[in-house]
Formats: sequence, C-alpha cells, structure tokens
Amino acid sequence: MYIPRGFQRSGSLALIMGREARFIVLNGDETFRAELRSTLLKVDGVKLVAEVEEPALLLQAVQQFPVEVLLVNLDPNPEAVLPIVGDVAGANRELAIFATSESTDGQLILKAMRMGIKEFLPKPIDTRALEEAIGRIAVDRAGTATQGSLITVVGTSGGVGATMITTNLAVELAAIAEGHVTVVDLDYRYGQVATLLDVDPKYSLADLCSSPEALEPQVIGRALTKHNTGLDVLGRPNYLAEADTITAAACMGVFSSLTQFNDYVVADGPTRFDVGGQSVLALSDVTLLVVQQLVPCVRNARRILENMRDTGYNLERARLICNRVGRGSGHLSVNDVSETLGLELFASIPDDWETASGAINLGEPFLTYSPKSKLRVAIQEIAERLHSPESQADDKDTRRQSLIGRIFTVS
Ligand SMILES: Nc1ncnc2c1ncn2[C@@H]1O[C@H](COP(=O)(O)OP(=O)(O)OP(=O)(O)O)[C@@H](O)[C@H]1O
Ligand SMILES: [Mg+2]
Repeated sequence: MYIPRGFQRSGSLALIMGREARFIVLNGDETFRAELRSTLLKVDGVKLVAEVEEPALLLQAVQQFPVEVLLVNLDPNPEAVLPIVGDVAGANRELAIFATSESTDGQLILKAMRMGIKEFLPKPIDTRALEEAIGRIAVDRAGTATQGSLITVVGTSGGVGATMITTNLAVELAAIAEGHVTVVDLDYRYGQVATLLDVDPKYSLADLCSSPEALEPQVIGRALTKHNTGLDVLGRPNYLAEADTITAAACMGVFSSLTQFNDYVVADGPTRFDVGGQSVLALSDVTLLVVQQLVPCVRNARRILENMRDTGYNLERARLICNRVGRGSGHLSVNDVSETLGLELFASIPDDWETASGAINLGEPFLTYSPKSKLRVAIQEIAERLHSPESQADDKDTRRQSLIGRIFTVS
C-alpha cells in the first residue's frame, strides 16, 4: 500500500441509524476547507477519513481507505475535476459520490450525475440536505459494520495529568467494553504511556509509519504490546530522532486501521496542533480536554478550543475534564473554568498524590493498584459515560443547549 504525500487525514464519530458514514473529501480550495470540515463534522455519524487536495491522488486515496462516501468540491474548475471523479466512480461502484458547487447550472448537475455522482449539494451546504443524502446511503447499506471510536486526550499544559488519565481510561474501557482497546502514545518525544503501564513495546508508531505495508491491519495488530489487563499498547518511538519520521498521513493510516479492529482507540495527545495534530483531532470521536484550576491552563485551553473551532472541529465532540480538584483551588473554581471556556464540565478528577504517584512509580493502573480509590472511581465513571450511549445522548442534549450562545462569549 502507498500513502500519497499531500494527503491530510481527518474525521470524527457518531451513528447514522446505528452506522457510520466515512468520508473522503476532494477539495482543492483551501478557503473552503474549514467550512467544509465543520459542515461534515456537525452530522452525527460522519467520520472524515481523508482530505485530498490533488485530483490526481484521488484514486489512490479511494483504494487505500475504505469509505462509504466521496464528497467532491467541483469549484473552482468543475471541468478539470469531473473526468477524474468519473474514473473513480467507474472503478468503485460501491462508493457513493456527492458533489458540491456554487454553480446551480442544470447542465453541470446533469453532467455530474452522468459521471456517477449520486447527490448534488449546492453551496452553502445545507446540513439537513446532507443528513438526508447520508440517510439514503445508510439505508442502502444496512448491515455495514461499525467502527471503533477514537478518543483523544489533550493536556492543556505540561504535567496536567493527560498521560495518567489516558492510560487509566484505556484500562477501564478495556474492562467495561469487553472488547479490543488500544492505547496509543502520541507524545513522540517524551511519551510515558508504556512506563505507566510497565510494558516494554518492541515496536512503535514510527516503525508502522516506516513502510506502507506496515499499515495493513494484521501487521499493526502484531506490532502492539499486550498489557496484563488485555489492553494493547502502541508506544512512542524508542529514539528521539525517529519522531521526525512520523508523517501526518501515515499516522492517520495507523489510526484508520486501528479503529477497524478495536472497540476503542485511546490516544495520549495530540500534543501539537500542526497539520498532523489537527487531522487526529478531526478524526476523533471524542476529545477530552484536560485542565487544572490554573489561569495559564485555562488560557491554553481557550487557545486550543479557538484553534479547533477555526479548523472546522465540531466542539460538541469536546469534553472538559478538570483534574486535581480539591487541593485548594486558589481563587479559581471549577465553575469559573467551565464558564470561561464556554464548555460544560464533563467530569472532575480528585487530587490524590499518594495514589497517583504510587501507581505511576509501580507502573500499575488504578484498577489493580487501588481499585477503591476516588481517583480510580472517577476515571472508571468517565469510561462508563463514554461507553454508555444513553448517557452520551443525555449529555449531548444538555451540552447543545448550554453551548448555544456561550462558546467564546465569556472573556
Ligand atoms: N489527580 C491527580 N492527583 C495527584 N497527582 C496527579 C493527579 N493527576 C496527575 N498527577 C500527577 O501529575 C504528574 C503529571 O501527570 P501526567 O504525566 O499524567 O501529566 P501530563 O499532562 O501527561 O504531562 P506531560 O505534559 O509531561 O505529558 C504525575 O506525577 C502525576 O502523579
Ligand atoms: Mg504526558
């Protein structure tokens, strides 16, 4: 397999009538990128698997990543794009192809339809029309297997507790879901996921990114290290220099494969907000934003949220976690943090240095080190809420109400 350069992969979760719709986007118009992403990610069930800028790379992308829908931006030059889309449609009869354009010229629409495009969505894309179009293909494809969810954990400051939360959350999810769960260390340089779980992975993300064949799900499966709780671990590279060999496209190829055979993939990171980091965030079903009751932390969180919003991320998929609560917050309450960020608090985790440091030093999850500790119970509850669809739905309704008009209005 070959991952073409120039791909940017991205995406997100949820279910359409119990199923997901994975998208590849062909869009050569940079000014339309954030709007297009944001429109797609507003729809429950949509996973944006790859964004292709060059029409010439489209066929390879479609061959490499299994998706239900290809969405093509015909602008600014439909005549150049349409023949390539026609070739892709001819070679991939199963693929539903949607097109969007500013033009409502009947001749263009007719031509697009003749080329195999199933749905034409005039700009600006109406969310309901998009949902309906997806609904039609979902009905056509009853029985398609669902994919695992990607949960990303983003620390808003150094040492805020992201790695501790990631590893323990992954362990709890593995216990609750009774399925496959993999934890991935995206802190390429100083990551400590393997240390916290006391495992010694032979292979890392860098090895998987080193050759296109390594992105095959079977190869990835063999590269994972088993933890004694059943969780699989993909650690950070062993050598600092290897971090530079990890490209955004290859990294997303790894995630795409991992979600095919895991119920949950939990990532410690991204730790940066470059193209690679943004793509991982956009592919995430849920992003846990970890803060502490400290002004620099909240300021960073705000910057991160602003960046996520500006790059088309659906903030309804973000969850606010306040860590180390209860150790005397020094003028900043959990409510202050939540209000300032315009994001409802999803969960708070108590401060407990004794348990945290003890478990970390022994390389044990709280599940076995201190199963009754408040720290363990708090993270177990987060895992349960993420796992349970009902509580997710409740959360979503409340969050939607509270978010409207609140995000970024509080200074
Ligand atoms: N709830 C908590 N109670 C007490 N100590 C905690 C808690 N959460 C984290 N810590 C401590 O904070 C330290 C940093 O935690 P961790 O390494 O998980 O943070 P991080 O955000 O991943 O840091 P980095 O930015 O270095 O990646 C650890 O020593 C851990 O013991
Ligand atoms: Mg860390």
